[in-house]
Amino acid sequence: MVEDYREIVSYLLHWYDYNARVLPWREERNPYHTWVSEIMLQQTRVEAVRGYYYRFLEALPDVKALAEAPEEQLLKLWEGLGYYSRVRNLQKAAQVIMREHGGSIPADYELLRSLPGIGNYTAGAIASIAYGIPVPAVDGNVLRVMKRVQGSRDDITKDAVKRQLQADLQVIIPKERPGDFNQAVMDIGATVCVPNGKPHCEDCPLMHLCKAFHEESYGEIPVKPTKKERRIEERTIFVIEWDGRYLLGKRPARGLLAGLWELPGAAGRLTAEEVKREWLQCRGLEAEQIRRLPEAKHIFSHVEWRMIAYALKLAKHSDPEKLLASGEYHFVTKEEIRNRYALPSAFAAYAEQILNGMGKAEEV
Ligand code: ADE
Repeated sequence: MVEDYREIVSYLLHWYDYNARVLPWREERNPYHTWVSEIMLQQTRVEAVRGYYYRFLEALPDVKALAEAPEEQLLKLWEGLGYYSRVRNLQKAAQVIMREHGGSIPADYELLRSLPGIGNYTAGAIASIAYGIPVPAVDGNVLRVMKRVQGSRDDITKDAVKRQLQADLQVIIPKERPGDFNQAVMDIGATVCVPNGKPHCEDCPLMHLCKAFHEESYGEIPVKPTKKERRIEERTIFVIEWDGRYLLGKRPARGLLAGLWELPGAAGRLTAEEVKREWLQCRGLEAEQIRRLPEAKHIFSHVEWRMIAYALKLAKHSDPEKLLASGEYHFVTKEEIRNRYALPSAFAAYAEQILNGMGKAEEV
């Protein structure tokens, strides 16, 4: 069966010679650049990554700079990209590389895979693209393209199915151009054999040998069991201002947005009275003005936040000493929100209100 797919190699490479997307991380071969780009591209579209990629490399141009960067700078560079554990693992891996590999990113699939944040796919991508090592890089795009070509209704969420495809591709991946081969399949997955809507089979170099094309079954392949529905969480967000500064709180070390700064909040839809009673009073705070801000929502992978929010102006004589003593809360200026603290995108609607002057607040 694998032998049948040998012929796809030359079609793919020929197609890639003329149709490869022009992407920043393809401009030169640099393992650090490849690594950073691959981590950014996990769960994130190419177009969203571009700007972040340049800014990140300018600020942290090599493994050493990454290993030594203050966490605050790291999170600020990642602000808005989401899945922040990616950048934390990126730094942990950089520290391992400095300590155990003399600062050089290992040119070895298994060693790469042993680093924090690097799994089969990313190890394959770095090894093949940066070092020319012939190993496949199987991600969702590659699974979709190959399962359609094979006309296979295997459940692509199963590890055994991914492993089998990895093993099949390992046999045919060309030793001279493994990185181009992997990236050709990625590009076809992103631009031709698209996940939503009708694929552009007429532009595909594999059309004539693609079972899904011949059987018109592209709508049924790849097979994946329907995802669990997202849990909906109601939340009340507090934009608390005191003397021209705004209150940020640190999220718990585990779970959603772990350890990141946030606008404080509480579960549920609280009334203004409840906010005063259940949040402010017990922290020794008193609001002299409370206004409602517009509702907002944010979609994470497994949860959706539906948010209501209040802009709370603390009375001048408030004494937030107790609140600040734990180090879990900071009062920060607009300037610091802009340039120093990384606020996750979930709070973007309210960060914008802070930065642009609460134009949408209504008295309650
Ligand atoms: N997605 C993940 N890695 C990629 C790469 N190297 N090129 C294009 N798309 C990608």
